[in-house]
Amino acid sequence: MEFRLIKETLSSADADLVFICCFAKEGEKPSTPSLSKDDQGLELDKILEGQISKTMQARQFFGKEGETLVINTFGKIKAKTILVAGAGLQKDFSLETVRRIGGKVAQVANALKAASVSGVLETVRLKGLSPQDRLQAFVEGALLGNYNFVRFKKKETPPAKTLKRFLIHVKGATAPFEKAAALGDILGNAANLTRDLTNTPPSELNPTDLAKAALAVSKKYKNIRCKILGLDEIKKEKMGALLAVAQGSEQPPSFIHFSYKPPKKSKTKVALVGKGITFDSGGLNLKTRDQEFMKMDMAGAATVIGVFDAIAQLKPNVEVDGFIAAAENLPSGSAIKPGDIITTRAGRTVEIINTDAEGRLVLADALDYAADLNPHYIIDMATLTGGAAYALGELVTPILGNDKKLIEKVLAAGKKAGEPAWELPLVKEYKKGYLKGPADLKNSGSGSKASTISGALFLEDFARKNKWVHMDIASTAWADEPMHYYAEVGATGNPVRTIVHFLMSL
Ligand code: BES
Ligand code: ZN
Ligand code: ZN
Repeated sequence: MEFRLIKETLSSADADLVFICCFAKEGEKPSTPSLSKDDQGLELDKILEGQISKTMQARQFFGKEGETLVINTFGKIKAKTILVAGAGLQKDFSLETVRRIGGKVAQVANALKAASVSGVLETVRLKGLSPQDRLQAFVEGALLGNYNFVRFKKKETPPAKTLKRFLIHVKGATAPFEKAAALGDILGNAANLTRDLTNTPPSELNPTDLAKAALAVSKKYKNIRCKILGLDEIKKEKMGALLAVAQGSEQPPSFIHFSYKPPKKSKTKVALVGKGITFDSGGLNLKTRDQEFMKMDMAGAATVIGVFDAIAQLKPNVEVDGFIAAAENLPSGSAIKPGDIITTRAGRTVEIINTDAEGRLVLADALDYAADLNPHYIIDMATLTGGAAYALGELVTPILGNDKKLIEKVLAAGKKAGEPAWELPLVKEYKKGYLKGPADLKNSGSGSKASTISGALFLEDFARKNKWVHMDIASTAWADEPMHYYAEVGATGNPVRTIVHFLMSL
């Protein structure tokens, strides 16, 4: 997708579709919104002899968020069609509103088979939001909204996606806006890369394929490196937990180590850790539901890959290492069995109570490996527990950790990205369940109660004394139904944009 800044007015812009936005009016009864001078809505209405305002009235368009109205221009301006997008109440306006409008405009443009779209960026602050930030959010939303996963659709029936170009009208110097659009572009594309990986079926993306995907990203840039540990090296590292999870599959595990160095040496070092279960059948504790989604159990790993794609371009002033523990969790004659006791890389033994609690096992080894580097912060991202959906639903990511300030920073980054997160408490008492039995730990202690908290508690010690945060993305990495700028069921790319904002804030 191309984003170009232009000086022409919307009536003469060389685009198939132009869009304007309307706030909904406050008041008990919904009413027709007013057109604005600032986004050229009034001017277009005049050229169209009042057709916009008349159609808004006739069709009962109220400017609610997500509402759209399409008007034919019959050759009165260069574009064939005008799209009026509802922006909701002005008091609720935020960067997330802008992202959603961006997504909506992209989707309507494709539905109308438009190749190019033009609109105005008002170069004043709106509700305290700078035009740069709004442009960035718009570009991001447009890219997220334009995404669909078509790799496996028959060639003869490609879903029509015509949109190629956005022409954004701005006043004054364009340089700061170019920068904002570029940031939105990088963030949107990085999230979409993560979505592609997460949506890819498990037989097309096993642990070795995941490692290849990581290598492919690292090869695009000079400032990131990627090292892959194969089966023998994983054995040498004594990653007993990762090996245990992988042993039921014919596919070997892989361990991926990304590293990024900033242009100027930085004192701060961050480690990102991703759960990379390319398919989670549950193992011998075979899942009786949801298996068809379990290709997404590597969304944490895909997030690490997406983040490295973004930071290689954005060059934040912080050193970043990324770790991915990848395996397939399958039942077979060689699979780990409930009752087995394994030894983690950290030396702690774990009794396997439930082979479906495999994420915490592979993460235990990855966190321990990451902790060797003594990073200032460790952030792990994992589709760890089905309970995340019961705790906070599919719009909010549960986050837990051992450092208040770090948690605050990640929450703030999530807010900025439009990927809300919320802290859950690490209730120490819930750890007791893990400590019974013949090994140092059990891999499942509390059954289904507070499983998101218990999952995090299992991980805590493996991060050692480092400042650490765990994001359980089991419910937010995947949209069960289309919403906002997620046009279809499938991967969302959450929390790629949060992590990038976090790294840029350091
Ligand atoms: N990958 C699943 C968690 C999951 C469930 C992700 C649904 C996305 C949607 C994880 O490995 C798992 O099975 N967790 C168990 C843990 C339990 C056995 C302690 C769970 O949450 O039920
Ligand atoms: Zn599982
Ligand atoms: Zn899993």
